[in-house]
Amino acid sequence: VRSNNSIDESHTNQSNSNVTLVKQDRPQKARTLQLAHNLGQHDPVHIAMEKFAELVTKHSNGSLKVVIYPNATLGTQTQCLENLQQGQLAMTKSSAAPIENFIPEYAVFSLPYVFKNNEHYWQILNGPIGQELLTLGKNKGLIGICYYDAGARSFYTKTKPIMTPDDLDKVKIRVMKSSPTAVKLISTLGGSPTPMNFGDLYTGLQSNLVGGAENNLPSYLNSRHYEVTKYYSFNEHTRVPDMLLFSTEIWDTLNEQQQTWIKQAAQESSDFQRTLWEKASSEALEKIKAAGVEVSYPNPTPFRARVKPMHDQAMNTAAGPYLKRILETP
Ligand code: GCU
Repeated sequence: VRSNNSIDESHTNQSNSNVTLVKQDRPQKARTLQLAHNLGQHDPVHIAMEKFAELVTKHSNGSLKVVIYPNATLGTQTQCLENLQQGQLAMTKSSAAPIENFIPEYAVFSLPYVFKNNEHYWQILNGPIGQELLTLGKNKGLIGICYYDAGARSFYTKTKPIMTPDDLDKVKIRVMKSSPTAVKLISTLGGSPTPMNFGDLYTGLQSNLVGGAENNLPSYLNSRHYEVTKYYSFNEHTRVPDMLLFSTEIWDTLNEQQQTWIKQAAQESSDFQRTLWEKASSEALEKIKAAGVEVSYPNPTPFRARVKPMHDQAMNTAAGPYLKRILETP
């Protein structure tokens, strides 16, 4: 790894005897790294990234600074991923879902009923399988830094609760953009998948462009989608993690020490976010109930049965070996 960040470079032309003097006399200018994402500032993932930024400053003694741009102000998830590839943006948070367009193995995260429960999900993410998946995009310009909990995704709808797959018949369900697996999941269940950016969904629901969507509870609350949909049904079809990613091009301009600080800060923020997430999820449930949302707990068996062929088909794709390993992990 080259050590060519601007701070080091400013000393390379000095004679050795000058180096210490320069370091003591001149305050070092912090190197700024931009992090853009599509979530709001109340989201536990955003709060964890604020913690990450704080820890990067702390570990680097102020020589690195992370500036966060929330609310898709610098673009959608896919646009941010492309900006990382082009070296125009240092970091983004993306759901693992649209990453399958760049790294086909990531489709494994959007397949239904892959993880047994939250413990299994974190055991996989923090274990060899999850850590290996973080590295797969390096040659495609995208380095995975850490995962954040994005809970289990369930359906929420405007006119009736989703109790069985048949209730989805012809209902337009918003899915994340750029995720063929998400599209396939909804059509396999009998619904009508409608790709849309997260930021457009409130209006999409309000204006009946879609009859429902699917997401975790904190996102359902923080996006205020509960104001325009009456029913939330805990069928928990997927657990798609959020991820912090770094541009390979910019990563390669950092020295090893800086990379270590960033990785350390990221892992600490991920651990912190897991605790935050649990609290946010139970609080969100109370809040949406208090707001009059009808919460139901459908039997997951018919949902699982309907989407089982997706697992069989995925076995022959790039995601297959990962699916197999995850399913075989007790
Ligand atoms: C969740 C997830 C986001 C994702 C969003 C979506 O909120 O945390 O990363 O963008 O769902 O449905 O688009």
